Amino acid sequence: MIGDFMNSIDRRDFLKTTALLGAGTIIGSNFQNIALSQQNQVSSFKPVVIASANGLKTVETAMEMIKNGSDALDAVISGVNIVENDPKDDSVGYGGLPNEEGVVELDSAVMHGPSYRGGSVAALRNIKNPSKVARLVLERTDHVLIVGEGALKFAKAHGFKEENLLTEESREKWLKWKENLSKEDDWLPPHNIDDTDIGEYMKSYSRHYGTIHCSGLDTKGNLSCVTTTSGLAYKIPGRVGDSPIIGAGLYVDNEVGAAGSTGRGEANLLNCSSVMIVEWMRQGKSPEEACLLACKRVNERCREKRLQDEKGRFKHNVKFYAINKRGEFGCASIWGGVRHGKPQFAIHDGESAKILEGVSLFKA
Ligand code: GLY
Repeated sequence: MIGDFMNSIDRRDFLKTTALLGAGTIIGSNFQNIALSQQNQVSSFKPVVIASANGLKTVETAMEMIKNGSDALDAVISGVNIVENDPKDDSVGYGGLPNEEGVVELDSAVMHGPSYRGGSVAALRNIKNPSKVARLVLERTDHVLIVGEGALKFAKAHGFKEENLLTEESREKWLKWKENLSKEDDWLPPHNIDDTDIGEYMKSYSRHYGTIHCSGLDTKGNLSCVTTTSGLAYKIPGRVGDSPIIGAGLYVDNEVGAAGSTGRGEANLLNCSSVMIVEWMRQGKSPEEACLLACKRVNERCREKRLQDEKGRFKHNVKFYAINKRGEFGCASIWGGVRHGKPQFAIHDGESAKILEGVSLFKA
C-alpha cells in the first residue's frame, strides 16, 4: 500500500524541494546537492540504516531490502520484526519483560517520511509484532494511536493471532522481582520535589528499559522509522513510555532526517526529544550534535532530586539515534561507561553492518 502512493508522493516532494531551492531557503548547500542529483537521477541516494545496539541483524535486513528497492518503512519494520520475534531479547516483543502483574504489554510506533503519516499502539497484549499493528493504524485507520484492549481488538480484526508472550526466562525474572517487591517498584509515597531518599528503587540504576529503534534512508531519498518495546520492566499495568509517542520515541521529516530513542521513557516524554533532534538537524546540527543536545536538555530540565545523583546530574540513561537526508548518522547517550554501558549503536552505511560507539554527556 505504501508503494501504491509513493510515486505521487515522490513527485509532490520533488516539486516542493525544487521550489524551496529556487527560493533560496534554509536548506543547506549539501541538501541542494542531493536535491539536484535527485532531479537528475531519482535513485542516487546512498542508503543508510541506524538502530540501537540490539539491532545489528535489523540493519542488515533493512539494508538488504532497501538495496532491493524497498521503501524505507517496509525495510525498518521487517528489520525490527527480527528482534520482536527473538525470545532472547527481553526488552522487545516476544520474551519482553512483563508488567508488575506478569503480563507483557508492548508499545510501538512507525512514521513514514514521504507521506508524513504515523501509526502507533500502546499497552498491547498478546500480539508479538506491535510494529506491524502500528503500521496498520497508519494505513487502515483515520487515527494515529490506539491503546490497550482497543489495540488488541484492532489487531485481531486484521487477523493477528493472540499468543502468550511471556517466556519461561522472563517469567522467572519477573517472579524474582516480585519476591523482592518494593525494592524496585514504581509506586512512590507522598514526597516533595527536593526529596532524595524515598525508596530503594531511587538508589538503583538498574531498571530495565530496553527497546529497539530503527531509522532508514532508502535509495529514493525517503526516510522512515520505527520504535518497538516491551517498555519498562515490571511497570504499573497500562504504563506507556516514549516509544509509541510520535515526537518523543521517534520522529521523521522527510526533508531533514529521522530520530528515535531508547532508555528511560519518562524523561523523554517530558522533552519530546526526537522532534527536537530533527529540528536541530534542520538548523544545521549534525545527527550526533543534535542527539547530544537532546541529552543535555533532558539533564538540564530535570528538577526532581530523586532522579539526580550527588552532583545534580540526571542519573538514568536515555540514548538517541539520528540520520539526516545526506545519510550522515549519529548517536548520543546521557551516560556512557561501565555502569550504563557504552553508547553503542548499529549502523549499515551501505557497505557493511557494524556496531559503532557514539558520544555520551557523562561517564560513570
Ligand atoms: N524507552 C522505552 C520505555 O521507556 O518504555
